[in-house]
Amino acid sequence: MSSQIDHLLDENRRFAPSAEFAAQANGTAELYERAAADREGFWADQARELLHWHTPFTEVLDWSNPPFAKWFGDGELSVAYNCLDRHVEAGNGDRVAILFEGEPGDTRRITYAELTAEVKKAANMLESLGIGQGDRVAIYLPMIPEAVIAMLACARVGAIHSVVFGGFSADSLRSRLDDAAARLVITADGGYRKGKVSPLKPAVDQALADRGTGAQETVEHVVVVRRGGNDVAWTEDRDLWWHDLLDQASAEHEARPFPAENPLYILYTSGTTGKPKGVVHTSGGYLTQAVFTNKYILDIHPDTDVFWCTADIGWVTGHTYVAYGPLALGATQVMYEGTPETPQPGRWWDIVQKYGVTILYTAPTAIRSFMKQGRQIPQQYDLSTLRLLGSVGEPINPEAWIWYRDIIGGGKTPIVDTWWQTETGATMIAPMPGVTSTKPGSAQVPLPGISVDVVDEQGNRVENGNGGLLVVTEPWPSMLRGVWGDPERFTETYWAKFADQGYYFAGDGARKDEDGDIWLLGRVDDVMNVSGHRLSTTEIESALVAHEATAEAAVVGAKDDTTGEAVVAFVILKESYLAVHTPEGLATQLRVWVSEQIGPIARPRDIYIVGELPKTRSGKIMRRLLRDVADGREVGDTTTLADTAVMSIISAQVK
Ligand code: PRX
Repeated sequence: MSSQIDHLLDENRRFAPSAEFAAQANGTAELYERAAADREGFWADQARELLHWHTPFTEVLDWSNPPFAKWFGDGELSVAYNCLDRHVEAGNGDRVAILFEGEPGDTRRITYAELTAEVKKAANMLESLGIGQGDRVAIYLPMIPEAVIAMLACARVGAIHSVVFGGFSADSLRSRLDDAAARLVITADGGYRKGKVSPLKPAVDQALADRGTGAQETVEHVVVVRRGGNDVAWTEDRDLWWHDLLDQASAEHEARPFPAENPLYILYTSGTTGKPKGVVHTSGGYLTQAVFTNKYILDIHPDTDVFWCTADIGWVTGHTYVAYGPLALGATQVMYEGTPETPQPGRWWDIVQKYGVTILYTAPTAIRSFMKQGRQIPQQYDLSTLRLLGSVGEPINPEAWIWYRDIIGGGKTPIVDTWWQTETGATMIAPMPGVTSTKPGSAQVPLPGISVDVVDEQGNRVENGNGGLLVVTEPWPSMLRGVWGDPERFTETYWAKFADQGYYFAGDGARKDEDGDIWLLGRVDDVMNVSGHRLSTTEIESALVAHEATAEAAVVGAKDDTTGEAVVAFVILKESYLAVHTPEGLATQLRVWVSEQIGPIARPRDIYIVGELPKTRSGKIMRRLLRDVADGREVGDTTTLADTAVMSIISAQVK
């Protein structure tokens, strides 16, 4: 089968940056020229300019043993010093680092001086528990400042953290504790979600309950942050209160340097098959690209901006754009504990107004759910402080992009659609605000110093105007250094497909338009083949979302006797439309609409109007499950779904 993905949807809107925005932007076109002239030299300059090195490096990239890279290999730095102490030493100790908003409405303003002192105490606490360089510490916490403090404390003592998203079950936690052979777990008595305390400690107790399993053997202590205030079961000698330990700990702690390639964290990411992979990131290269992208793509100006990345620290976005990047840059950021609709659907916009947020970075799934509720909700708030918006995690459909710009951004903010992965560690493809004229729906161009391409099955570059597979053709500073404990899986998953060329295979379909700009087309596993044409889920979904009645859509290929596969769509309608139209009438309209927008080949055979779509906890649609329903099969493994009830409802509806 050819890897050519047929291109169906044209989007011709363009938004040049305003002169006002361009004048103040950190990014300039000159960065691209410098990087093109000397890629490695460019990254070396960035590493020196953006970070403090205790021991300066002399080597830039060591690629003598691919795919195992070393960046800045003979240098030494402290990630924690870069995120904390150096700002205090530079006289910025009084600057607010974290503006915390709890879901119940409690708030904390934490300055860089205060955050540094807390991390020093937490580092002393870790050392008092015998945790040091190379030890694995699991962090299973709500979105509270202690999560960031715990991560930075690990970094400060050279330990490797493994943050496990607080919504994961005891089983998921246990498999991650086992795989990493964690020595310590940091958790809480609970966190606020949807107006209630959602407990965490019972899952830790359960994960450690079965004697004789891995985690039970390796975990020595469980440190518990008090947040929810509810009673917790207590295992003497094993369990310790965070506040007791921190009260006893000294606020003096010297930030020792570690080698640039010292592992900073493991983050588990579930592939479509098999057990989760422990993606490993190290220190110097990772932090360089994290800071670089916060500065030049998110355009953060530390002395004036209020940045808000809405991702949970359980995801890579929460690592690079909450914990490490903004803090290494010395920025002020909002951190919000709860869900967007609690206690009312305008909560996020209330937060933007309250703190005067200037840069908002979020996911298309959130934007589409706000579209579903309607513009009247954000329009009740003053969002005029916003000057830049970012998107990450999935392709953003052009209509959602326009809605985001018009309704949230007041029709004036640039939007940066940032493509990257847990594995890439930081943004790889995105417009540079102030430089790039943006195109709704396209992530557009690789960063300066990043080399990507779109190739066919054989690894040949496709011409502009064509689609294929997205690859990264040169090593990059924040690249994953491996899969924890499984070098073969690392090589096999990411490097085997284009071993001859030495390309990193991202698993995504992509297209280059006539200008050479890149459009992401969804995971390759989700591409459909209709009558011999390879169609991307993203384009048909975008056409559906472009209809005024649609809030969100998921498209899959179902087996079909005539066409091989047929397009089947699952559509969520905007609340205002459901009130005045029948679902059947709208489904008919939508089939005609897709046919008109992109051609009869893409017309859905079936359209199901649904209330919810199956999503992972990070908000990605699980099309695999919808394919099961469309094919009339038993629905596969739903354990990674945010809400497992969704699939039963959809299955019943389709039957
Ligand atoms: O398919 C791409 C999609 O999300 C995948 C990576 O997911 P994860 O490791 O969970 O990291 C999410 C946060 C970086 C990619 O392979 N993806 C991410 N960003 C975009 C995207 N697809 C299209 N456009 C994006 N901006």
